Amino acid sequence: MSFDKVHQETHGRLSKAVDDVCEEFVLSPEKMHELTNFFIESMEKGLGQAKEDADYRGLPMIPTYVTGLPNGTESGMLLAADLGGTNFRVCSVELKGNHKFSLLQMKSKIPEELLEDETVTSDALFTYLARRTLAFLNKYHPEYLQNGEKLKMGFTFSYPVNQTSLSSGTLIRWTKGFKIKDTLGKDVVKLYQKHLDDQGMSMIRVVALANDTVGTFLSHCYCSENNGSLTSGEIVEPVMGCIFGTGTNGAYLEKIENVKKLPDEQRAELLQSGKTHMVINTEWGSFDNDLKHLPTTRYDIDIDQKFSSNPGFHLFEKRVSGMFLGEILRNVLLDLFRRGLIFGQYTSEDHLPHRLTTAFELSSEVLSHIEIDDSSQLRETELSILQSLRLPTTYDERIEIQKLVRAISRRSAYLAAVPIAAILTKTGVLNKRYHGEVEIGCDGSVVEYYPGFRSMIRHALALSPIGPEGERKTHLCIAKDGSGVGAALCALVA
Ligand code: BGC
Repeated sequence: MSFDKVHQETHGRLSKAVDDVCEEFVLSPEKMHELTNFFIESMEKGLGQAKEDADYRGLPMIPTYVTGLPNGTESGMLLAADLGGTNFRVCSVELKGNHKFSLLQMKSKIPEELLEDETVTSDALFTYLARRTLAFLNKYHPEYLQNGEKLKMGFTFSYPVNQTSLSSGTLIRWTKGFKIKDTLGKDVVKLYQKHLDDQGMSMIRVVALANDTVGTFLSHCYCSENNGSLTSGEIVEPVMGCIFGTGTNGAYLEKIENVKKLPDEQRAELLQSGKTHMVINTEWGSFDNDLKHLPTTRYDIDIDQKFSSNPGFHLFEKRVSGMFLGEILRNVLLDLFRRGLIFGQYTSEDHLPHRLTTAFELSSEVLSHIEIDDSSQLRETELSILQSLRLPTTYDERIEIQKLVRAISRRSAYLAAVPIAAILTKTGVLNKRYHGEVEIGCDGSVVEYYPGFRSMIRHALALSPIGPEGERKTHLCIAKDGSGVGAALCALVA
């Protein structure tokens, strides 16, 4: 057989295998409907689920004790701290009362050992957080250290927490890589406050605990100049905050009468005091942990079981969020290699570049370059894969890798549309007012930077039960600095 013929056949086999994999990542309109309906069912179940049921694996639907939304007129000077998937940020926020704010911040990358080392304790983590807080005050606000003036702080903690009041909550489980066992079941506000006190910062009072989605929701309400106002005849209303970054999650406003999991006396008390709604942190990363409806490939199973720090949980997040997009691609590529279809220059798996054989070494940023590469011979892709994985590729291989990247990101965005469509449908906000439109405050690296991610969500929304008409009324807005400003807003009302 001639060289050309062999080459064509090899590419043909790879191409066919890749098409089959891509097919598994497609979500049909019927599937979008099925998932959205199941999401609504799961929300209702979660709202009624007793907090103490340890065997419950469904949607957490956590009451946040935030019972009102800002309108942009709030003012004051507050502190905020934000522990996310990759960074810890401390900020001071000045709310100016006119939808505007100014913010000073110090951002630190969480040291690897706090994430990786299984022997690390809560004390080590919170000592580190307090130390960074002190560094921030020393740099930007030494006056508070000297005069001891009391300062309110909101703490954005972007992990599932059983919230018991606006200012307390116990960690249910870590996500996004943390493994510190002794934090489970502990009140994270108490831990943080203790270490602030120990390091001489008792003038700081941590008065509010907020998930990053709650912060994003509130800060979008504060900043949106459309909030409740008439814009060319329409009323635009912020209805949700969501994150598509390292992790994914969303928060929205629910009628208190529907939050059946609140103790009866507490619900009655809230209603009597005139409160009608409460922000719910859905923790949608944990949607369908029993895999009754989520599309599941063998790669998803492997990633969850072999490589993730919380097997069996947050299975929706593992198909959607930035932490996992690259890992899915890495697992597909290894499978194609094991089947003798790609990277034929390597004779065994031991010879592959170690970055390709190491979990979580392929970042979603690399996928974002490949997604939109239209350079001749896909040179951008070649460079990106070479730089990140030290892996040389042929043009034929790059064509197939690009197909895979696009299938993985599309599935992620289509799935991302499911909870949005479900919340819009369940709350009925799209039909609340004639010509009423809704805004969704979004934050996170994927929704902000992944090329086309927001348009893909929009396509999927149009295919979901809200249809093209609902999709047109829905605005996906980037809410910057959500967690800092949002936590400050929570602290303000505390
Ligand atoms: C966490 C959520 C968080 C989301 C986005 C998830 O892994 O469970 O609490 O809101 O990531 O940061």
